[in-house]
Amino acid sequence: MTPHTFRKSFRDVEAAETVVAHHRWLVELRSGVVFPKLLAHTGSTLEFERLPGPTAGTADITTVARALGQLHRAAWRGGLRHADMNRPFPIDGATKLAGFTEPRRQRLHAALTKAECPLTHDDIDTWLEISAELPVTLYKDANPRNAIISPDRGPVLVDVDTLTLAPVGYDLAKLIVTMAMTFGAVTREQVVEALTSYITAFGIEADRCPLGHIQVWAEFHHLLTHPWCGQHYAHEWNAIRTWSAAEVVSAARTHVPVRSREPHARDQ
Ligand SMILES: Nc1ncnc2c1ncn2[C@@H]1O[C@H](COP(=O)(O)OP(=O)(O)OP(=O)(O)O)[C@@H](O)[C@H]1O
Ligand SMILES: [Mg+2]
Repeated sequence: MTPHTFRKSFRDVEAAETVVAHHRWLVELRSGVVFPKLLAHTGSTLEFERLPGPTAGTADITTVARALGQLHRAAWRGGLRHADMNRPFPIDGATKLAGFTEPRRQRLHAALTKAECPLTHDDIDTWLEISAELPVTLYKDANPRNAIISPDRGPVLVDVDTLTLAPVGYDLAKLIVTMAMTFGAVTREQVVEALTSYITAFGIEADRCPLGHIQVWAEFHHLLTHPWCGQHYAHEWNAIRTWSAAEVVSAARTHVPVRSREPHARDQ
């Protein structure tokens, strides 16, 4: 390893090969979003180019949100728009992106017995069902440590270890919650600005990803991220949530009417 490389070891050769397939797929989407170059692959170890910039901070939320939207737009062009939210989506030979619900349902319900959260078990099940009707996107962990703000290349997305399918907005909600849990409260204005950039870069209609959805997905992420409080995260989401718990409940119980998936002119 040189100062210019970032080496990561995986549990076995197969896990490393999965990451190589994820990386190749993401790069070949030609989204304009930058990923570090993969320099070497030896058994269960991968070596990427090392990016010099700092990881993303609160001031970078909109920039990173735009990159996520850009990625979704390219993935839709590459066929992801036709994916079924809860069916593994093949990207490269044997490699598939897992569906949204299956890897999460049990973990969410278990987390809800341990963490304070305005959502109920019924809300979780309802939103897991609703997700199947929402625009499908890819989900790659969007915590701020996984976006490096390169001085000359903009936001570079690292850590492609786990990719799944997820409803539009799910990754943006992760970015917002983990930014807040890392650095302290994120304002509503910052969230709205980031959401606007994300939707615009994706090219879908705003009503397919309203703020209410972000509010619900943010609670999903809080539940799933809560165990890392005190390690990566200095702030409790319950103490710094951008909106009130009552607003979350209202968003979760407002069953947004969803239209069946249809082509959108701007994405042809
Ligand atoms: N190519 C890279 N160049 C520079 N820094 C990197 C690179 N890849 C990863 N990093 C930094 O190292 C951290 C750890 O790498 P990675 O995200 O792959 O592992 P992780 O197990 O998910 O750790 P974490 O939870 O801290 O993100 C990243 O969060 C990022 O800040
Ligand atoms: Mg990471």
